[in-house]
Amino acid sequence: MSTLIGKRILLIIGGGVAAYKALDLARRLMERGASVRGILTKGGAEFITPLSVASLTGDQCFTDLFSLKDEAEMGHIRLSREADLIVIAPATADLMAKMAGGLAGDLASTVLLATDKPVMVAPAMNAQMWDHPATQRNIKTLKGDGIHFVGPNAGMLACGEVGAGRLAEVPEIVDAVEGFFSAENNKPLKGKHIVLTAGPTHEPIDPVRYIANRSSGKQGFEIAGALASLGADVSLIAGPTNCETPIGVKRIDIETAREMHDAVHANLPADAAIFVAAVADWHVANEGEQKMKKTVSGIPELDLRENPDILASVATLSDGRPSLVVGFAAETENVVEYAAAKRERKTCDWIVANNVSADTGIMGGCENQVHLITENGAEDWPRIPKDKVAQKLADRIAKELS
Ligand code: CTP
Repeated sequence: MSTLIGKRILLIIGGGVAAYKALDLARRLMERGASVRGILTKGGAEFITPLSVASLTGDQCFTDLFSLKDEAEMGHIRLSREADLIVIAPATADLMAKMAGGLAGDLASTVLLATDKPVMVAPAMNAQMWDHPATQRNIKTLKGDGIHFVGPNAGMLACGEVGAGRLAEVPEIVDAVEGFFSAENNKPLKGKHIVLTAGPTHEPIDPVRYIANRSSGKQGFEIAGALASLGADVSLIAGPTNCETPIGVKRIDIETAREMHDAVHANLPADAAIFVAAVADWHVANEGEQKMKKTVSGIPELDLRENPDILASVATLSDGRPSLVVGFAAETENVVEYAAAKRERKTCDWIVANNVSADTGIMGGCENQVHLITENGAEDWPRIPKDKVAQKLADRIAKELS
């Protein structure tokens, strides 16, 4: 059964030669049970007419921000809210730049700025325009804002050039819209709060020096993103990393293990707590208030003290323990054996263990090969990209919490 049944789609048709395909798109979406309302930009109206959009959708076609008639019948704010999804096809470089910059000089851009609804963009333009750094910057901004993309495809363009910039085919856009609604329906972690730690911690020696480790934070950030895409409300307690915050995740930046400990407890209660961070085992108790001068004090003696074990402090809570506590174990030998012992010692429910010996290339790399250790023993997962490990783990967590 189509996921489009009963869905309201606002279709914004930009000014490109592919605008005529938007008419077919409207029909195909309606065939699957959606209702479609059209906005035609000034540029779009150079290629197709409001009358054809209105005739095909069976609804009024909106074109003008300053039209007294349109505003009286349906204000642009209402127009932007009375939809389950806004689809822009074709989306021109100009319209994407307006969106990325938050401009609102015409009806389409105003609606896009005023909306609180999800937006899917199907770009179409000349390949050079697509490849231009300005367009690529805008795409990055829009993706960061949670905008969904379908296409463009590569091939022969209307201008005669070959490259990326063809509007995705109508069935591809329809599939993407179907996929969007089926993902929306598939939010098994909706209503669940998950606290997750990621990245390294930095333990200051003095104002300019610190003790750190090689953790990139990549795996933890991927897991936070995967959990959020399943609908979880994720609090990501992050050590210093260069990772981008995943869409929909609440990020709390900390530096030291003690700050991470406090931030984790301040963000409880949670349904699950996932400890991916590579927490420094020690901090420097005699941290210098000023930069230590080697000509004055010579080689310093660092007074190292143990950091709180954040995972154990949550796993042993007698009141308000999350129902699932997951630890990670980065080992360089006897991986499963050490990790299983760690699970018992820290009283967590699961341990995700991996071998981080230099020859595996896992630390800082894009792939991971993990063993999931539960009360039922160890499962060996294949070596796969870190985002796939994250999805697999998020699915398992969803199953466990449901
Ligand atoms: N962990 C934590 N707080 C710490 C140390 C570790 O929350 N102070 C968490 C890590 O995020 C990870 C798990 O505990 O999920 C295991 O971390 P690891 O550094 O391997 O554990 P250690 O107790 O330091 O074990 P060892 O040094 O003996 O390998």
